[in-house]
Amino acid sequence: MSEVKQALAQAADAARFAPSIHNTQPWRWVVRADRLELFAVTERQLTEHDPQARMLLLSCGTALHHAQVALNAEGWTYRVDRPGTEPLAVITPADRRPVEPEATRHLQMLRVRRTDRRTVRDEAVSETVLTELVKTAEQAGARLHVLGRDQVLQLAVAVERAEATGPSDERDRLSAELATWVGGERPEGTGIPSSALPAELPLTTVAERDFQTPGTVQAGEGHDRFATYAVLYGPGDTEADWLRAGEALSALWLSATEHAVSVLPLSAPIEVPFTRESLRWMLGGTGVPYLALRLGLQDPAHTAPPHTPRLPAPQVIELKD
Ligand SMILES: Cc1cc2nc3c(=O)[nH]c(=O)nc-3n(C[C@H](O)[C@H](O)[C@H](O)COP(=O)(O)O)c2cc1C
Repeated sequence: MSEVKQALAQAADAARFAPSIHNTQPWRWVVRADRLELFAVTERQLTEHDPQARMLLLSCGTALHHAQVALNAEGWTYRVDRPGTEPLAVITPADRRPVEPEATRHLQMLRVRRTDRRTVRDEAVSETVLTELVKTAEQAGARLHVLGRDQVLQLAVAVERAEATGPSDERDRLSAELATWVGGERPEGTGIPSSALPAELPLTTVAERDFQTPGTVQAGEGHDRFATYAVLYGPGDTEADWLRAGEALSALWLSATEHAVSVLPLSAPIEVPFTRESLRWMLGGTGVPYLALRLGLQDPAHTAPPHTPRLPAPQVIELKD
C-alpha cells in the first residue's frame, strides 16, 4: 500500500474513536489511493429522535475532524471538501511537513476523551480555558456561546420540555428507539453500555438526558452550580453547516480534554423543534443552535467510566483503488 493510502487508512481508523449520538457511529469511509471519502450511514440514523439527520451529521463531523487530527499528527497537509451530499466530505492529502508537538498531543487526546456524565467539581472552569475553547470552536468552523446565569435557567426549562414533549404514542416510539441503542453490554460495538451511564440521575439545574435505564457509574451527588453551559452555534442550517459544527465539537472537546474539562453534550433541546427555537431565541437570533454543552472540571474523587465500544474497522472502512 502506498504511503498516502496507508496514512488515509490510519486516519479513518483513528476516526472510529469519535463521539456520536448514542454511539451510533453513523459513518463509513472509503480509502482511495489519493483521497479519503466520508459517507453517512442512514441505517444507523435515529429516525425517531433525529428524523432530519442533524445529530447524524454532527456525529459524522466529529469523525471528519478526528481523521484530520490523525493526519496532522503525521505531518500531512491536505484539503477538505465538503460537498454536503454523497460523499459528505473528501480529504485530499498534499505534502508532508515537520510535525507540531500540539498535533501529537491532540492525537493522544482521541483515546483519552470520553463523555462524562458524572457531576463536576465545585470549582468553575477558568475564563482562560473558556476563552480557548471559544477560539478553538471558531477556528474549526462554529461558535460557542457561554450562557449567563439566566440563560442557564432557560436552558434547564428547554431540556425539561424537550424530554417531556409529544403525545404518548410518539413518546413510546422514542423510548423504543432509545432501548435499541442504550443499556446492557453492547457486544456488537455500537450504542451506550450501562457501564457508561449513571446509576441514578444526579441532582442538577439542567437535567442530564434520561436514558430510561439505570447504569453503573457512580455519578456523584453534587450539584452542577459550578458547571458552565454553552451553546454551539453557527450561521447556517445546511448539511455542510451541521458537518462543520461536528468538526468544531470534536476540536473543542479534544482541547477541553487536555485541560481536564469534561464535556457533556445535551442534544434533546436541539432535537425537538420548539425547544430548538427557544435556543435560537436565546442566541438573540444571531445563529442556528447546533448543540448545548455542559462543561466542568472533572472531579478526581470519581472513577472514570470505561470507554464505550466501537465498531470493528472493516465495518466502517473500505479500501478501494
Ligand atoms: C451529536 C451528539 C449528541 C450527543 N448527545 C448526548 C446527550 O444528549 N446526552 C448524553 O448523555 N450524551 C450525548 N452524547 C454523547 C454520546 O452518547 C457519546 O459520544 C457516545 O456514547 C460515545 O461515547 P464517548 O463519547 O464516551 O466515546 C452526544 C454525542 C454527540 C456527538
